[in-house]
Order: sequence, then C-alpha cells, then structure tokens
Amino acid sequence: MSQDDSTIYLNGSYLPRSQGSLSIDDRGFIFGDGVYEVFRAVDGELFQGRAHVTRLLRGLDALGIQIPGEVEDPGLLAIARSLLARNRHDTGQATIYLQVTRGAAPRTHHFPTPSVPPTILLYTSTFRHPEGLHEKGARCVLHSDRRWSRADIKSVNLLPNVLAKEAARKAGATEALFVRDGMLLEGSSTNLFGVLDGVLRTYPPANYILRGITRDVVLDLAAGHGIPTREEGIPMEELPRVSELFITGTTTDVLPVIQVDETSIGKGRPGPVTRRLQRALQEEMLRTGTPTG
Ligand code: PDD
Repeated sequence: MSQDDSTIYLNGSYLPRSQGSLSIDDRGFIFGDGVYEVFRAVDGELFQGRAHVTRLLRGLDALGIQIPGEVEDPGLLAIARSLLARNRHDTGQATIYLQVTRGAAPRTHHFPTPSVPPTILLYTSTFRHPEGLHEKGARCVLHSDRRWSRADIKSVNLLPNVLAKEAARKAGATEALFVRDGMLLEGSSTNLFGVLDGVLRTYPPANYILRGITRDVVLDLAAGHGIPTREEGIPMEELPRVSELFITGTTTDVLPVIQVDETSIGKGRPGPVTRRLQRALQEEMLRTGTPTG
C-alpha cells in the first residue's frame, strides 16, 4: 500500500490520507502550539506504547492542552493499533506519528477563550533503517544548542533541531550533537551515550534534553548486562578520551558513532558495549510481538 492510499486518523475520523486537511487557523501551524510522538511498531504491535503515551500526556499537561478522556486512555493506543491493522502493518516494521495541537481558533497569542477542541492526528509509515549505517557507524557534528530550556517537552517547535540536522547533512554527517555550556547533551532527534573510563554515561533527564523512551530502555538493558551506567553528561573536551559513543531513538535504535567533527572515537569503529546494546535492543524489540500495552 502506498503512503497516499493509507488511512489516517484525524479528529475522530478514519480517512484516506489524501483527504486529511487542517484549518489554516490551527495553532500547530500558526504557533507550533502542540506536541507529538513517534512510535515504533513490530508485526502490528507497539514498542513501549504505554511509555510514549505517558510522555505525551505529560507534555499536554505542561502546555495546558486537554484531550477528551476516552481518547486519552485507551483511545490513543487503540487508534494506533487500528491504523496499523488498517494499513496492513501487521507484519514488518512501521512507525506511527501522533500530533496533538491546541486546535483551531482566530489568532491570539494567549490560549483561545473559550477553549476549542484539540487537533489530533495519527498516521503510519513503513519503517526501514538506512542501508549499512548501523554496521559501519555514523559521523556526527557538534552544534551549539540554541533551543529553549524546556527540551523535555516533545513540542512540535523543532526549528533549532531542523537547522542542526541540516547542518549535519551538509557536512556529510548523520546527526548533530547539541552542546550547551561545554557539555554534550543529545542529538537533534536522538539521545547520546558514551563510554568514559569504563562507565556508560548519558545526560541526566533534566529540562535540557528529551527523555527518550529508547534511552530509558537502553539504560535498563545496560544494567541487566552488568554494564556500569551513570546519568551524567560528558564534557565536550573529554571526547578524545571517550572509548565508545552511540545515539539512540525510536527510529535510530542504537547507532554507533565513530567520528565527531575531526575527532575519531575509540578505535574508529563500533565498540563492544555498543554492539552488545545494539543486539540487546533488537532482541527486546522483536519480543514486542506480544502486546505490552
Ligand atoms: N525524536 N531527543 C530528541 C531531541 C528527539 O527528538 C528524540 C526523538 C529523542 C529520542 O527519543 P525516543 O527514544 O523516545 O524516540 C531524543 C523522534 C524520533 C523524532 O523527532 O522523529
């Protein structure tokens, strides 16, 4: 089935993607006033579905956007599963994009009064990793973090992320790593892990990063494999001493990083901790065939 023929969910209706349309007054379009999630699905079942919904609800709460109770739970997961079935993603891998905005109302910066129904959109896509990248490893560039200080909210305001990713692409790299106050934080659409002095480190879940669902799964897997972990950022100047580096995300899994700007990481090829976690996450994901909710 081509993407154009697929079924989407928009504001209570299932319809062909080509018939999905939004008001020009939608505050997602006008202000970037909304949040989103990207889910991964294996054989028709969501990987960490509940965790994604929990993060979405936290974001909605932080922004004061309300969605109808029955859509909240179990609605969103049920809609996502229904779309997977309707779009024949019951075998193979797929992603689900979910976006909620404050809704459509004449343009005022403050929230519409009275409030308007939120816009709720979900659609699915077939998923495949870029050929060979996960075996070979990726190159990244450093990028100054100019985002607001609530990067923990998965808001659709992604302009700094878009500009950073484009800078990476122009440099022939896969990802841009945000640096703030000399610390490595995360990628433009990924979290960052590094091995320093034998300890797997990643930035703590504060307001300066998005607390990735994959990040948390990888931390658990590392603990289960007896790999020492610490939620502490890596200073940029320590990069030459880092023995392994990788990025994680819903559409990235565990992706080894072998070079950052001109600095070669470790031996310049994916290291053993990265490989173990790459395999462990893959196995965890394949177990997704049984519903986790
Ligand atoms: N991005 N950090 C940022 C800034 C992100 O945008 C993402 C996800 C992550 C990883 O989070 P998770 O493991 O929950 O996917 C970290 C999604 C995939 C995107 O924007 O497409």
